[in-house]
Amino acid sequence: MSDARAFAAQALERIVRGGVSLRDAFAQFAPRLHDARDRALLSALLHDGARWWLRYDAAVGRLMDQPLRTREPALHALIVLGLVQIEVMGLPDYAAVAGSVDATRTLRRPKFAGLVNAVLRRWLRERDEIGAKLDADPMTACAHPRWLLDTLAADWPRDVEAILAANNAQAPLTLRANRRRTTRDALIARLAEGGCEAAAHAWLPDAIVLAQSTDVTRLPGYADGEFSVQDGAAQLAPQLLDLASGQRVLDACAAPGGKSAHILECADVELTALDRDPERVAAMRDTFSRLGVKPRVAVGDAGAPKAWSNGRRYDRILVDAPCTATGVLRRQPDIRLHRRGGDVAPVVAEQTRILDALWPLVEPGGRLVYATCSILRAENAAQIAAFLARHPDAAPLADFASEFGRPDGHGRQNLPGDGGMDGFFYAVLDKRA
Ligand SMILES: C[S@@+](CC[C@H](N)C(=O)[O-])C[C@H]1O[C@@H](n2cnc3c(N)ncnc32)[C@H](O)[C@@H]1O
Repeated sequence: MSDARAFAAQALERIVRGGVSLRDAFAQFAPRLHDARDRALLSALLHDGARWWLRYDAAVGRLMDQPLRTREPALHALIVLGLVQIEVMGLPDYAAVAGSVDATRTLRRPKFAGLVNAVLRRWLRERDEIGAKLDADPMTACAHPRWLLDTLAADWPRDVEAILAANNAQAPLTLRANRRRTTRDALIARLAEGGCEAAAHAWLPDAIVLAQSTDVTRLPGYADGEFSVQDGAAQLAPQLLDLASGQRVLDACAAPGGKSAHILECADVELTALDRDPERVAAMRDTFSRLGVKPRVAVGDAGAPKAWSNGRRYDRILVDAPCTATGVLRRQPDIRLHRRGGDVAPVVAEQTRILDALWPLVEPGGRLVYATCSILRAENAAQIAAFLARHPDAAPLADFASEFGRPDGHGRQNLPGDGGMDGFFYAVLDKRA
């Protein structure tokens, strides 16, 4: 287990200082751990460590006169993780301290064992006093960056506390049953036989909510393509597209293919799955072959259709736009460490460019569904209001998916944790015939 802690410290240091994604950092270190429990511990340490970094990094700043942040960054991360194990993960104090001290040997820094021990024990003595100081500043109280706190307070003044709490909680694991391969009830029964407790979602037709998080690739039915992992909020696209057999459909930002696959599981449409990122397109092809669906796949820029389209229009276009991903912080806690306030305006401009380039490709009488996993109004309600002002031939659908989130401008916004789901926005735009 001390190896897991040492690898977690090295991986977290890369996430925080090197800008590496949590997913990539985990993929780099997990293969070195041969026991599944060690890999589970590594994953938990990285998720909780990234989620709570801004609080416990500041705590170490108060515990040490000269923190090791720049001199010995992996040791610094090891100490932060020690605090996270004590305060967030609920490990017994002695286990967190002894495990962290042991990990100094795996990191080949045994001479720091005494220092790590002393700092963690000082925390145990002074946690109330230092904790109160951390609680006095909203940034260290809830471990969110200042720019995001300010933006959320401006966009969602009444909901900001609930959003922060949801971002700091564990997200449930939700699956999507593949209608082409099984039924939801049959899959729930198969999972139960394999010892996995699962229940049908209350109103989403394909969604299954698991009682406990698990390695889904080991669940019965995974290799047979009977299900995918997909939050409930992302499972609305087919119903909002109002699909019918034979339609020409474009999924313009398709990789890694979750919504494209869902569309083809639901309807016999002629689907083009487009994305600009070749690596993500390769992952998308794997997803399609596991699930047994066969869209046309294209690599290209949705904002420059001449390069990949033959000029024919589409009955339906889904724009699951690149966004700040501020609605999925509970699942991807590294986003709060990597995203900057200055990222918002360029992302909004890119969404605008894609929307304006694709709207002419919608058949009159057809429909464009706009989606983001953001909770920032600039990317959602304000983006759509500006689009409607530029395109008088677009008519927003007023009433849709009343179970989902709340109305906001001409769309619906789910805030993180609402209905147990991620933060997500949808707008449905019909083109006047
Ligand atoms: C939110 S993700 C899409 C998730 C996907 N729809 C799913 O359900 O699995 C956004 C995608 O947009 C792609 N993207 C960003 N800018 C793009 C552009 N200009 N043209 C096409 N794809 C783009 C990214 O590579 C990324 O894969």
